[in-house]
Amino acid sequence: MRDVPSEVIRIQEVGMRDGLQSAGQFVETADKIQLLNQLSKTGLSKIEVTSFVSPKAVPLLADAEAVLDAIERVPGVIYSALIPNIRGLERALAVDLDEVNVVMSVSNAHNMANLRMTCDDSLDQFREICTNRGSLSVNGTLATAFGCPFVGSVDPSMVLEWAKRYLDVGIDSLTLADTVGTATPHQIFGLCKAIVDELPEIEITLHLHNTRGLGIANALAGIDAGIRHLDASIGGIGGCPYAPGATGNVCTEDLVHALIFDGYRCDVHLDALFEIALQLEGILCNPLPGLVRQAGTKLTTHPMSDDLRCRLGIP
Ligand code: COA
Ligand code: ZN
Repeated sequence: MRDVPSEVIRIQEVGMRDGLQSAGQFVETADKIQLLNQLSKTGLSKIEVTSFVSPKAVPLLADAEAVLDAIERVPGVIYSALIPNIRGLERALAVDLDEVNVVMSVSNAHNMANLRMTCDDSLDQFREICTNRGSLSVNGTLATAFGCPFVGSVDPSMVLEWAKRYLDVGIDSLTLADTVGTATPHQIFGLCKAIVDELPEIEITLHLHNTRGLGIANALAGIDAGIRHLDASIGGIGGCPYAPGATGNVCTEDLVHALIFDGYRCDVHLDALFEIALQLEGILCNPLPGLVRQAGTKLTTHPMSDDLRCRLGIP
């Protein structure tokens, strides 16, 4: 039997960035604001609100400033935005934000495809970002940490190496991202344990995609390895527009359901998440990948039909 940690597992919502950046349609700014305001009140510890990237690269998030100007802040929630470069920092410094999430891929091929620069060039930008961040925290994401859509396997020692380089340039916290959902639970456990053991002072988040159905198994493997922060997206939406085959993140409500019913502490209101996922489904006019909302929770029961009762002789 696996040990359940006494600490709260922090759930961090990325659907409004990772999900909506590739939703296939522009979600109106007012809808984004309403969804974010509701998400803020569910017990999630961090919300990645949007990204400050080139609007030509990601037109679906071109309204980043308008969204950040309008959302209500709930005390205790960390509001974050993804940035790829100095221009992104300049935009982030002009709004009310707690954190910027700098991102680069461990795989040079994916970094070129996604950000049009080498990993070394990304790191140079991040050094400058850390120097000029003002009061912003800087989280550093290592994308394709468990596999790359272009070159396949990624050497775990390279991930550790890049994590150390991130620390050297001054990031405050680290995210390991399975960008295209290729990781398996033993792989997650091995790499997370190695990095937790080697860099015990840094807070590490696991960012998982459920592309091959292993999202929640991988999240539990990460917790076993000492991870206490998990990214997830409402309804299970998501996918990197510059990673072929990438689909949704691990679904927030499915993850929260798994944690609650398996005895973990996560302090997120499941029913409120169901409500928000339902609204999002209406906005996107498409069924969302999340499973528990459709199946009902572990406690859901169904009344027996009169016909069946009659056939079984049950009054
Ligand atoms: N915000 C807004 N505009 C930006 C920007 C930013 N952070 N960074 C660059 N731009 C603009 C430039 O001003 C320039 O505008 P112009 O054509 O009107 O002069 C244009 O984008 C191109 O700038 P350049 O520096 O040459 O960038 P590039 O074409 O080499 O692209 C990135 C590099 C990083 C800006 C771009 O690839 C990008 O935004 N990628 C993000 C991808 C993403 O979000 N992926 C999913 C999340 S991991
Ligand atoms: Zn992602």
